[in-house]
Amino acid sequence: MNIILLGPPGAGKGTQASRLVDERGMIQLSTGDMLRAAVKAGTPTGLKAKAVMEAGELVSDEIVSGIIGEALDDLKPETGVIFDGYPRTAAQAASLDVILSDRKRTLDHVIELEVDEDALVERITGRFTCAKCNEGYHDKFKQPKAAGVCDVCGSAEFKRRPDDNEETVRTRMTEYRAKTAPILPIYEARGLVRRVDGMADIEHVTQAIEAILDS
Ligand code: AP5
Ligand code: MG
Ligand code: ZN
Repeated sequence: MNIILLGPPGAGKGTQASRLVDERGMIQLSTGDMLRAAVKAGTPTGLKAKAVMEAGELVSDEIVSGIIGEALDDLKPETGVIFDGYPRTAAQAASLDVILSDRKRTLDHVIELEVDEDALVERITGRFTCAKCNEGYHDKFKQPKAAGVCDVCGSAEFKRRPDDNEETVRTRMTEYRAKTAPILPIYEARGLVRRVDGMADIEHVTQAIEAILDS
């Protein structure tokens, strides 16, 4: 099973992908996470991506399609994949078709998380993650069970993303509207798009996605 999670910044793509990984043994391929790892490691890709990401703009299609192809080559053919934050442009959607067919994979669903734009700034500016295991949290919607301690690994160190400020979020939303939302009709024409109410609470969104995967 290969699925795309599509939605604007803060829609819950990463949150839902990691829940599906835990529950279904699928693999999450998040271009955002892979780029942040490259920035942290100071690789040539990371050096190119850093300023673009901090401005909330899109990294080049060649770079992100390259890292997706490489990541798929590391997986067993039977391992299911959740694409989180990729593809984001028409060119990336076209590349993904080639990348998948070269590896004899097919796309099963494109799941669009529908959210009110007003909620996104609050979701993003309240987000933080565990510095050690990367588990995601929110100041208001998902606090650690014991204050200041990661539920998963027990670490007391947390971090916030440099692009999670209100100004950059506005740019990221503009990029989504201009370049990413227009790829939906490509998948609609193939009958692959399923819509989920991303405003429901986290658990209910997961249930709605699982119902689609089981259908
Ligand atoms: P990326 O990391 O993909 O960021 P994004 O698309 O802006 O999405 P986010 O990760 O911010 O949101 P999310 O949908 O994962 O939400 P989350 O689950 O965390 O990309 C970052 C940058 O990298 C881009 O700007 C670009 O520069 C570059 N990049 C990446 N991919 C690229 C590509 N393909 N091409 C070009 N450039 C690329 O949830 C947010 C918060 O809300 C969390 O705190 C969570 O706890 C909370 N929350 C989640 N669901 C709910 C809910 N149902 N109710 C209440 N709270 C919720
Ligand atoms: Mg994310
Ligand atoms: Zn942790």
